[in-house]
Amino acid sequence: MRVIEVTQYGGPEVLRLTERPEPEAVAGRVRVRMHAGTVNPTDLDLRQGVLAALTPDLLIPFTVGWEIAGTVLDDAEGFTAGQRVIGLYPWLAEGTGEGTNAEVVLAAPGWLTPLPDGIDWATAATIPMNSLTARQGLDLLTAQPGGTVLITGASGGVGGFAVQIAARDGLNVIAVASAGDEDYVAGLGAKQVITRGEPLPTDVDAMFDPAVTRDLSPIRTGGRYVGVRAPALTSERDIDTTVVFSAPDSAQLAELTSLRTRVADVLPIERVAEAHTRTAAGGLRGKIVLAF
Ligand SMILES: NC(=O)c1ccc[n+]([C@@H]2O[C@H](COP(=O)([O-])OP(=O)(O)OC[C@H]3O[C@@H](n4cnc5c(N)ncnc54)[C@H](OP(=O)(O)O)[C@@H]3O)[C@@H](O)[C@H]2O)c1
Repeated sequence: MRVIEVTQYGGPEVLRLTERPEPEAVAGRVRVRMHAGTVNPTDLDLRQGVLAALTPDLLIPFTVGWEIAGTVLDDAEGFTAGQRVIGLYPWLAEGTGEGTNAEVVLAAPGWLTPLPDGIDWATAATIPMNSLTARQGLDLLTAQPGGTVLITGASGGVGGFAVQIAARDGLNVIAVASAGDEDYVAGLGAKQVITRGEPLPTDVDAMFDPAVTRDLSPIRTGGRYVGVRAPALTSERDIDTTVVFSAPDSAQLAELTSLRTRVADVLPIERVAEAHTRTAAGGLRGKIVLAF
């Protein structure tokens, strides 16, 4: 099978498309033939070695990729051959360096959820990690319906899902959108959209920060902040801060498949270095998807 390897820590030039034997079926795992994979900021971090301290036993070369979108290969663990599934591969927790930028992946059944008909592969691939991060991050906010939550990076993957989920939860969402993207973000359910760079409010109950602004000033004293990157912030005011680390949850994921998401481009896996370069440059409207 074809697989994308990170051959050493570095820039996009360290990515190599190569061949490896397909994994054999093993008890407790479901083999999935991937149809589409994504490039996320975390993949860039892993490639560059930013998270190397968290993976001291990682062998190089390794494969990145957190999102699964494909067809089950065998009847196994409650799944049937040919079934369409998506899922989140917990790359750091697994620690094997065998990510989902590969044609066949071995998934634990608890990582997977059936993919409803009518969702194309590219769209499907953009759902698992960022929707689960949004759901689990908002859960950590423990905001009550009617409360006001500020969501940064609402034009991005995690932020776009967070706006929709928070609105569905009955929160008053104030979202920070990239310039030119305000109408899209309003359509996700934000009550108020602020263009990035414009002044933020100063009295929100809670803030979810996929843009990694690490700015607590919009939050009222006694409020709550959830970030997406360690370390957690400390506050001189009485603001509770924590960081979400997304984890697979098939039941939760099943509730998130109908949310809106965007595909910026679909590239063949041969063009993975270009996908990383464009993701690093920012300004995308949606994820770059790799077609297998
Ligand atoms: N902890 C976890 O479990 C977990 C899981 C998934 C992702 N993450 C992290 O979450 C973050 C977001 O991921 P993502 O996939 O949503 O990335 P993304 O799709 O690139 O979205 C980030 C968005 O934030 C915007 N942005 C950047 N700086 C901003 C600022 N100062 N104010 C407002 N908007 C700003 C970006 O705009 P431009 O592109 O125009 O700059 C982009 O639209 C990344 O750091 C990622 O590593 C964490």
